[in-house]
Amino acid sequence: MRAHEAGWAHAEGPRGPSWLRVPGDVNDLVPLLWSSTARKTPHGSLEVGGVDLLDLVAEHGSPAYVLDEADFRARARAFREAFDGYDVYYAGKAFLCTTVARWAAEEGLSLDVCSAGELAVALRAGFDPARIGYHGNNKTVAELRRALEAGIGRVVVDSFWEIERLAVLAAETGRTARVMVRVTAGVEAHTHEYIATAHEDQKFGFSITSGDALDAVRRVHGAPGLELLGLHSHIGSQIFDTSGFEVAARRVLALHAVACEELGVRLPELDLGGGFGIAYTTQDDPADPARLAAEMTGIVERECRALAVPMPRVSIEPGRAVVGPAMCTVYEVGTVKVVELDAGATRTYVSVDGGMSDNIRTALYDADYSCTLASRRSDAAPVLARVVGKHCEAGDIVVKDEFVPGDVAPGDLLAVPGTGAYCRSMASNYNHALRPPVVGVRDGIATVLVRRETEEDLLRTDVGA
Ligand code: LLP
Repeated sequence: MRAHEAGWAHAEGPRGPSWLRVPGDVNDLVPLLWSSTARKTPHGSLEVGGVDLLDLVAEHGSPAYVLDEADFRARARAFREAFDGYDVYYAGKAFLCTTVARWAAEEGLSLDVCSAGELAVALRAGFDPARIGYHGNNKTVAELRRALEAGIGRVVVDSFWEIERLAVLAAETGRTARVMVRVTAGVEAHTHEYIATAHEDQKFGFSITSGDALDAVRRVHGAPGLELLGLHSHIGSQIFDTSGFEVAARRVLALHAVACEELGVRLPELDLGGGFGIAYTTQDDPADPARLAAEMTGIVERECRALAVPMPRVSIEPGRAVVGPAMCTVYEVGTVKVVELDAGATRTYVSVDGGMSDNIRTALYDADYSCTLASRRSDAAPVLARVVGKHCEAGDIVVKDEFVPGDVAPGDLLAVPGTGAYCRSMASNYNHALRPPVVGVRDGIATVLVRRETEEDLLRTDVGA
């Protein structure tokens, strides 16, 4: 999602954006972009989890999300091991189904949910409610009641209204609500840049600078039935370095120290949120969990020492970095159209059988993706292509710029890596598209985890009075 300094149109040359390199061999995978078990077979098809995607599509159809179980588990484990002594909450908003909730639990992760629906999936999966955190800037009374009755481990409160509602519900249900206070640290981070501002112009959290955050801490502390755990800060998404976390941690820990002093309590916890970046294209260079952990621990230790407060138990909430690279989407090509660009260059429009209904991120965020021919090898010279969907909208783009073999043709399969996060979870039924299945692959076996939608599913809610 990195823009050219002079705007994206300037980044476009006859060979595509300036960062896009013509591949040496268009059949090769760029390993950083793919899940760990992905490889090309000798005849050039893509294999993930020991399953040839030609076989997977023959059995389960296309498009399909393909989830590499070993890769998901390895990333989850890498976070848990690197962030030893932390609680690692998997952010279910990136992608959640009952099987994935179970995998996360088995790998020792806790779970962050932000809606009644996500909570329902987690509970159906048998996820220990004590290890679930509940987020949201506008949780309803019904949602909060359900969370309390389920015995949720912590509620991250986001407004004075919510503090009042929780106190009433705690009295009503006889439960204690364990509470984190979400604060805005005035830091917004994306990729390598962060912006530190004095004002916090967004809907989430209590402002530190206005004094609301300290007021919220005081109110939670004083409310019967509420147990104050600590402060929570989330600064953004697809972040590659820890400088934004450093500024945020400094501001949040300063408040933490004031709160400890003023209230005479020890705030036992601190959450620094999620947002760790992944590689979607060769432009991206994410840090591994071990480096992130070392840097973040250093930051928190330094600040606590300087403020003379004891180290709280720290938690983080990675979503994208756990599930993003573990999934790819496989599509079938339906049409190919070549368009003349300026300077005699061409762009090949490759239409696939999905699009913005299964991956809205390109249209919504101008996100960059990559792809590979997944059904055969090709000796044709690479051409600059744009992979587009089948929806009635010109902005229905899946991959803005990629080199694909010049003989790409209807019937070929294309696979897009890095679609585990915020693709299925943000999928829609636009144009009454049926949302694709999520097929888990492991050791040569493909298992449907979320089945493809049917027309009956679509019509079920259309009661037709
Ligand atoms: N914690 C909180 C409080 C969050 O709001 C989020 C993401 C996360 C953790 C997980 O962030 P992650 O590690 O997955 O970056 N739909 C956008 C991303 C929205 C993120 C919303 N909050 C996208 O597709 O890029």
